Amino acid sequence: MKTVYAIVCALIFCASEELDFIKQRRFFNTSENVAMEVDLSRVRQRVDPRFLSVTIDASLASDEKFMYLLGSPKVRALASALTPAFLRFGGTRQDFMVFTPQDVWRSKVPPAANLCDRVGLPSWLEDNLKKEWIQQQILLKREDLQRKYKRVKFTEATVDQLYAFTNCSGMKLIFGLNALLRMADNRWNSSNAQALMHYCASRQYKMSWELGNEPNSYEKKAGIRVDGLQLGEDFVHLRKIMSESRFYQNSGLYGPDVGQPRDHRIDILEGFLQSGSEAIDACSWHHYYVNGRDTSLEDFLDPEVLDTLTLKTNEVLQKVKQASPQKKVWLGETSSAYGGGALGLSDSFVAGFMWLDKLGLGAILGLNVVMRQVFIGSGSYHLVDDNLDPLPDYWLSVLYKRLVGQQVLSVKAVGNYTLLHKRVRLYLHCTNKKSSANGAVTLIAMNLNHKAVRVLVPAHMASSTVVAFVLESDPSGGEGLYSRSVMLNGEVLKMVDDTTLPDLKGASLAPSEHVHLPAFALSFFVFSDVRAPACLSL
Ligand SMILES: *[C@@H]1O[C@H](CO)[C@@H](O)[C@H](O)[C@H]1NC(C)=O
Ligand SMILES: *[C@@H]1O[C@H](CO)[C@@H](O)[C@H](O)[C@H]1NC(C)=O
Ligand SMILES: *[C@@H]1O[C@H](CO)[C@@H](O)[C@H](O)[C@H]1NC(C)=O
Ligand SMILES: *[C@@H]1O[C@H](CO)[C@@H](O)[C@H](O)[C@H]1NC(C)=O
Repeated sequence: MKTVYAIVCALIFCASEELDFIKQRRFFNTSENVAMEVDLSRVRQRVDPRFLSVTIDASLASDEKFMYLLGSPKVRALASALTPAFLRFGGTRQDFMVFTPQDVWRSKVPPAANLCDRVGLPSWLEDNLKKEWIQQQILLKREDLQRKYKRVKFTEATVDQLYAFTNCSGMKLIFGLNALLRMADNRWNSSNAQALMHYCASRQYKMSWELGNEPNSYEKKAGIRVDGLQLGEDFVHLRKIMSESRFYQNSGLYGPDVGQPRDHRIDILEGFLQSGSEAIDACSWHHYYVNGRDTSLEDFLDPEVLDTLTLKTNEVLQKVKQASPQKKVWLGETSSAYGGGALGLSDSFVAGFMWLDKLGLGAILGLNVVMRQVFIGSGSYHLVDDNLDPLPDYWLSVLYKRLVGQQVLSVKAVGNYTLLHKRVRLYLHCTNKKSSANGAVTLIAMNLNHKAVRVLVPAHMASSTVVAFVLESDPSGGEGLYSRSVMLNGEVLKMVDDTTLPDLKGASLAPSEHVHLPAFALSFFVFSDVRAPACLSL
């Protein structure tokens, strides 16, 4: 798309936008202003306390030993800092996984009371698993390209590891069941799921459930066709099984985890909602901006690419509203680029523009939970890399958790230079109550420009002290966009030791009529004492 544009642009001498952009650039300097219009009186949307949540792809269980990586003390420490959050375990391979219990006697052993005190994964084993995981990913990639998926058998160990990981880090586990186990008449065969749920209940694992992953592509992945009405009935059946279980009768059930609308069609969703909406607690769908194999740095910084989320979200929200007006809508799996991410982009600083914009835009549009594919494991869109080190999007997520509250307010960037202010993206929430005084607001501000800008603060906010958390790549500016290292207020972020995060301290600024946004910065500004009426609890 970009290349075509560039050629066309060269041919017609760039008479359009691109030229305006160059012309305007001559006048850009650090004092270029973007103003913001805010409304502090009204809460526009309210998101779930676990709004920012994460996933682990089922491919981590393709060989069960890799599940032991979740016992790494470092991984657990990194996960704790992202709570409260859901952890969704699912993805393409969930529909090829069959529970194959090993030790019948084990289910009679009472659950370990001190699950979290047990010694974590020894470091020699961690090192071996990390190396082998890199090899395993090559196999997985080949399977994905050929769309030929092997049946994966998993034992109690997979759920034990998952549960211990979520329970000890404080996340809430959502387990995705295999929906491709079907009977001759195409109804879901729940017997394997029941065996699994029986085991989990015997261990007193408090968890929630999903059934099936991207059912719209079952034909391509498995040669099986399941229509929406049938899938909805399968969910009703699963809900019935849950309601008959003393342990899971009040647990969550989420679905149908459909892929995003294409050409204004959302395969399966309509039929599903007709028969199954009563069974679910939230309606989930998946979203990726671009294809990991043919994307570019420009896409990650393109406001038009970022805005495509609006159209797709509105299409899904409208469908759900028609069928089931009060139902919450979740992005049940989402990231920058599909196909495992875009290597060198999805795992670098520039990925933060798509991630932070998705959080900001998703919240104001009315999504209730957004689950990032993935916390650790498959592909290059992970928050924690194959060496178990945090990537820039991890730090961004931790800051978001700490600073951004559930109430979404409205804010708009306005200015005299269209291209300049379109490349400044602003979102506004009440500040997370754990981080600040009553009535505080957090401004999320992203600068997609290669020049610094000043954001003019409206008079009623300009008298407030401001605590700034400005993330820039290391090195900063355009040359750092591919970097895997990130600075907070000028200091490179890294773990103090394997289980200790650095203090993520903000910089206190005196009240001012503007805040400064460096080029290509991702930032949070906490206006501590604006006493926004929408954020004051009575
Ligand atoms: C920056 O812009 C201001 C006015 O907007 C102008 O007065 C100043 O000379 C400019 N500085 C540079 C270095 O171009
Ligand atoms: C972890 O497990 C313990 C014991 O079963 C339970 O009391 C606690 O609520 C669990 N925590 C989470 C976050 O699930
Ligand atoms: C459902 O699957 C189980 C194996 O998990 C099998 O034994 C059973 O016959 C199946 N039921 C039907 C009706 O196909
Ligand atoms: C836009 O231009 C007008 C008139 O020149 C000026 O008053 C206003 O402050 C400018 N807005 C911004 C955001 O710079």
